[in-house]
Amino acid sequence: MAAPLSEQTIAIVKATAPALQEHGVAITTRMYERLFVDEDVKALFDQAAQESGEQPRRLAAAILAYAQNVDKLQNLDAPVRRMVERHVETGVKAEHYPYVANALLPAIRDVLGDAATDEVLAAWGEAYWFLADILIAKEAALYEEQAA
Ligand code: HEM
Repeated sequence: MAAPLSEQTIAIVKATAPALQEHGVAITTRMYERLFVDEDVKALFDQAAQESGEQPRRLAAAILAYAQNVDKLQNLDAPVRRMVERHVETGVKAEHYPYVANALLPAIRDVLGDAATDEVLAAWGEAYWFLADILIAKEAALYEEQAA
């Protein structure tokens, strides 16, 4: 289990929720542009859901919900379960998570510009890996359960 997020990180992440509400889809659309430079990662995704804008919207909603509930993650049990199921259906593995981190954080800067200070990006980097570690552990357990 990852160390809990610091009070400071929680405060910064929560403070960015309004910007995510306004620019979330622009950020996730930009994130996927960066992510899909890697053809193997791109192949995991249903391209129809990308082109309709549905997947960027779903991810933006998930990121916003996370920002709003970063200090009360029990509120996210149902959406987390859904993400884990979908990730296991599509074959997402722990080794894919750095690609998303490396696409998401620069995408936040691309869209928010100077508002995405180094402090904001560091807080989001920490928060990303906190959630990623939860997903990775649950996905590993589900893969194992399915293999048994
Ligand atoms: C903390 C990181 C992540 C979050 C918050 C996240 C969130 C989500 C959400 C909300 C969905 C939609 C679930 C639904 O159908 O309702 C989803 C689906 C999906 N995610 Fe993730 N995800 C993360 C990491 C990753 C990584 C690392 C990969 C692989 C590169 C990935 C690949 C996918 C794929 C392939 C789908 C299914 C999309 C489709 O239908 O084509 N995700 N994710």
